[in-house]
Amino acid sequence: MKRFITLFAAVCACAVLVAQEITLSPDNIDAVIARMTLKEKATIVVGAGYKSMLAGQFGFKVPVPGAAGMTQAIPRLGIPAIVLSDGPAGVRIQQTCTGFPIGSMLSSTWNTELVEEVGEAIGAEALAYGVDVLLAPGMNLQRNPLCGRNFEYFSEDPLLSGRTAAAYIRGVQGRGVGTSAKHFASNNQETNRFWNDSRVAPDVLEALYLRGFEIAVKEAQPWTIMASYNRLNGIHTQQDRWLLTDVLRGRWGFEGLVMTDWTGKRDTPAQIAAGCDLMEPGGASQTRELVRSVKKGELPEEALDVCVRRVLELIVKTPTFRGVPRSKAPDLEAHAIVAREAAEEGIVLLDNDGVLPLKASATLALFGVGSYQALPGGTGSGHVHRPYVVSLASGLQTEGFQINSYLSDTYGGYLSKNKPKKTFLSGMLGSPAAPEMPVTRELVEKAASSDIAIFTISRQAGEGGDRHMEDDFLLSEGERQALTDVSEVFHSQGKRVVVVLNIGGVIETASWKHLADAVLLAWQPGQEGGSALARVLDGAVSPSGRLPVTFPVDYFDLPSSAHFPYNYSGRSTMASGGKDREKDVPNVGYTDYAEGLEVGYRAFLRADAPAVSYPFGHGLSYTSFEESRPVFSGDTVEVTVRNIGPVAGKHAVIIMNPTLCAFGKTRVLAPGESETLTMKYYAENR
Ligand code: GLC
Repeated sequence: MKRFITLFAAVCACAVLVAQEITLSPDNIDAVIARMTLKEKATIVVGAGYKSMLAGQFGFKVPVPGAAGMTQAIPRLGIPAIVLSDGPAGVRIQQTCTGFPIGSMLSSTWNTELVEEVGEAIGAEALAYGVDVLLAPGMNLQRNPLCGRNFEYFSEDPLLSGRTAAAYIRGVQGRGVGTSAKHFASNNQETNRFWNDSRVAPDVLEALYLRGFEIAVKEAQPWTIMASYNRLNGIHTQQDRWLLTDVLRGRWGFEGLVMTDWTGKRDTPAQIAAGCDLMEPGGASQTRELVRSVKKGELPEEALDVCVRRVLELIVKTPTFRGVPRSKAPDLEAHAIVAREAAEEGIVLLDNDGVLPLKASATLALFGVGSYQALPGGTGSGHVHRPYVVSLASGLQTEGFQINSYLSDTYGGYLSKNKPKKTFLSGMLGSPAAPEMPVTRELVEKAASSDIAIFTISRQAGEGGDRHMEDDFLLSEGERQALTDVSEVFHSQGKRVVVVLNIGGVIETASWKHLADAVLLAWQPGQEGGSALARVLDGAVSPSGRLPVTFPVDYFDLPSSAHFPYNYSGRSTMASGGKDREKDVPNVGYTDYAEGLEVGYRAFLRADAPAVSYPFGHGLSYTSFEESRPVFSGDTVEVTVRNIGPVAGKHAVIIMNPTLCAFGKTRVLAPGESETLTMKYYAENR
């Protein structure tokens, strides 16, 4: 009887506890967890599904239509649902938002202060439009040029990646909005991305593929980390306790939450046990599985509580929980200027025989669809609904240049009949580039009345598929012929040729760059790209961008080329469905990172290594700079930079020993002016 009374009293006490109302606050999280039912715990660690992402297409009522995901509210406990949205180049929601340059272009500035400003602007728009966590920065190492998402990522070097990411994170989080450093880890291809097993030697994993994330965590503490789709050395990262708990939290001191990438249900209890706190986009089957697993004693409830606590710790930091007013009116004009400045500083002048900057009186013949329809960014979750995109043609006209109207009319007519194929998801995922217009010799000769030819080469890439060799990494036959004709016709009349690369990732350049008098890498420069390009071309701004990645002479000079599924024809793996596929496509079940540390410029450090077309860190200016000998003291290094050339400009100091160990960027220096940079020295960057 006594036992019955004790038990009855305990049940009543629990009932009272559960019934007793409590409202979540930053300092009562444990008390709230104590009052949560198992079902509520299993609910809060699972997202609210695809309704938010697809609201624009299907009219679901959600706080921020188009935002990638949400958590689930538990009103009884005062727990609101929070909003998670992409993406690195701007807030990707139904509402138009500023389209910033892609990640590779931000890192090309080598200017962490400027990157932080971009983060601040994106954070301000996220805050204004109701977003709580921005699913960015994308920061996987650019292991191989054919990865479809390199445009979203920063570099082939972990130090440049990590410090650029840290600056971006500081900027966004400075606005009181969270970030999600992604995709953790070794997610370096899109082929078979949901199941591919990245097989990486431990020392290489630490030195290259984890190092950037380590720097970002230690220098900026992102509110969240996104665990990648792929497997790493046989284990899905999303259930790899060594990665998510021992390394990320135990060794690096990460204080935030880990969420999955947008995966269907996997082994949810194993993910929770590993320290993956939030299943996105989330589905009811995951909640059911957790309840069952705890009830059967397979998953300790304490392990679930650890993740519940981290979800609540995230929620109480968010603008939604704190009731921060959402203006819905960020300063888009000011942000457009930030986007243009970031693009101006991210443009890399690869070659110039003196034809640049252009003379104001020059009349210009613009070739390439990209001259008239710029590619501001890549496709997939890295897309942005931009209010406009400034093309090179309109940017040049705004700067006062005359462009060849015969050519612009011809391209205009062609583009009106060859619009990029759109689908009902294009609004969310962006569109492919328009097909290149065939250029005849006759067309070139007609256009040769202009003083200078500008030939834009465009490349699009995006989430869900890797790039190809033919007509992608390599120029197409049509492009090669057109560039040859333009070069022959214009040079035969003593006129010059400028090539502009509007690309998201490295292409082959060595076989054709002799045809041009200048080559300008414009990356995918965001909505203000045409303005930025025009201001660099006419010398309003002296180019100061430097390469964050190597342009090899030949793709196969890269050791990773022997271990990358480029010949998988880049078929989107989005269609792969939810079951484990390596048995169906054994040749892409895993990727062997057999090249080890020989990634990017690290593959060309040996004395007998092949030459490259454009090396890591390369970039020209319209002026010239003198650097003092570096002065090392402790973990800093000082270099004084002097502008010894004819015009003002900025300069990036890049210290290699032999790998990247320090870098910094001056302000604009007038001719004769100096600035001393004090930079952090990272001796351990292998
Ligand atoms: C995607 C991407 C990830 C994105 C997420 C939400 O599949 O891999 O970068 O943030 O899903 O859209």
